[in-house]
Amino acid sequence: MEFLASKSSVYLAIILLFYQALGRVVADMDLTDDFFIPPDQNTTSLNGKYFTYTGLRGFKGQANTFASRKATVKEFPALTSLGVSVMLLEFQPQAVNPPHTHPRASELMYMLDGILDVAFVDSTGKLYSETVRQGDLFVFPRGMVHHQFNNGTKVAKAVSSFGHPNPGTINLPITLFGTQIPNGVLKKSFKVDDQVIALLRSPYVKLITN
Ligand SMILES: *[C@@H]1O[C@H](CO)[C@@H](O)[C@H](O)[C@H]1NC(C)=O
Ligand SMILES: *[C@@H]1O[C@H](CO)[C@@H](O)[C@H](O)[C@H]1NC(C)=O
Repeated sequence: MEFLASKSSVYLAIILLFYQALGRVVADMDLTDDFFIPPDQNTTSLNGKYFTYTGLRGFKGQANTFASRKATVKEFPALTSLGVSVMLLEFQPQAVNPPHTHPRASELMYMLDGILDVAFVDSTGKLYSETVRQGDLFVFPRGMVHHQFNNGTKVAKAVSSFGHPNPGTINLPITLFGTQIPNGVLKKSFKVDDQVIALLRSPYVKLITN
């Protein structure tokens, strides 16, 4: 089955309109025109194709894991300064999208199929969690650390819209244990020894040495 049936596309459009209605459109730079026109183009040379992105067609998940595909300003230049972008998410049973944050955007997630346990943590450390299912929306406020987990036996699918054309993603496990942050700093911060840090780093050794 196609990931995005036409019904889902309608939902997507509704989500995008919802963002605009909220007046939460965040500009990454001021537009001096109706929309962003690439330097080598003009309104005569542009047509509907420029405002169309087909890169989400045929998106399929991956066995035993979480998979996503995004359409941000990097993939879809027409989004420049328009304050919106989207991502498709697919979770196999027991798959997790690990704790992460989007520094520049709130995320409004719409459940296309299945059930997900979702949560974010606020700046005081309070966890807000919910089990959401097909047809539900959940909003992750901008910058808050959050995760999604499929604790079911069936695939879960969602589409997320973001209030920024380039929301950015900071994956906490990778940022903490897959980078060159010195072991000594991690040991003191987590109050554990070298062995524990080595264990936490082990899935990301390739990332660190590259
Ligand atoms: C618009 O762009 C096209 C192709 O890039 C070019 O041939 C044309 O002269 C441009 N028109 C104007 C009015 O600048
Ligand atoms: C998943 O569901 C099972 C059964 O309800 C529960 O025991 C377990 O704690 C859940 N796991 C997580 C990580 O929430």
